[in-house]
Amino acid sequence: MTVTTAHETGAKVARIVADFPIFQHPTSRGKRLVYLDSAATSQKPRAVIDALVDYYERYNANIHRGVYEIAERATNAYEEARAKVARFVGADARDLIWVRNTTEAINLVAYTWGAQHIHAGDAILTTELEHHSDLIPWQELCRRTGA
Ligand SMILES: Cc1ncc(COP(=O)(O)O)c(C=O)c1O
Repeated sequence: MTVTTAHETGAKVARIVADFPIFQHPTSRGKRLVYLDSAATSQKPRAVIDALVDYYERYNANIHRGVYEIAERATNAYEEARAKVARFVGADARDLIWVRNTTEAINLVAYTWGAQHIHAGDAILTTELEHHSDLIPWQELCRRTGA
């Protein structure tokens, strides 16, 4: 068993926080920013910000359509990201679908998998505490199917 001390954990957290430029700036009240709204908008580490700037400055173009150099570069980067994320979550890259947000992702599952596998009489367990994006798609699925 590995024992981690509070000091080691603190040092680890400090290293992670150092990756996020937004946490390097005090709030308007001179306090350290504490951010707990990641489900709505996640803060971005320096590597992500740099990659976005690099993309917009050097190869911002349509993916999968343009037949010119920067479009091909954008397509490659897009597909490389899909492969990386698939490896990270242990999935096949062909099974990984990019969506714009949680709401779109949950609706996609409810309208596709849900339509195929959920039937009248089935029960979907959730709580009133869920955000609308994770409550309404299931309520709507129940309404459509009688689950
Ligand atoms: C707790 C929580 N869940 C889900 C969502 C929906 O996320 P998205 O905007 O990615 O659809 C939000 C958005 O604010 C949220 O705060």
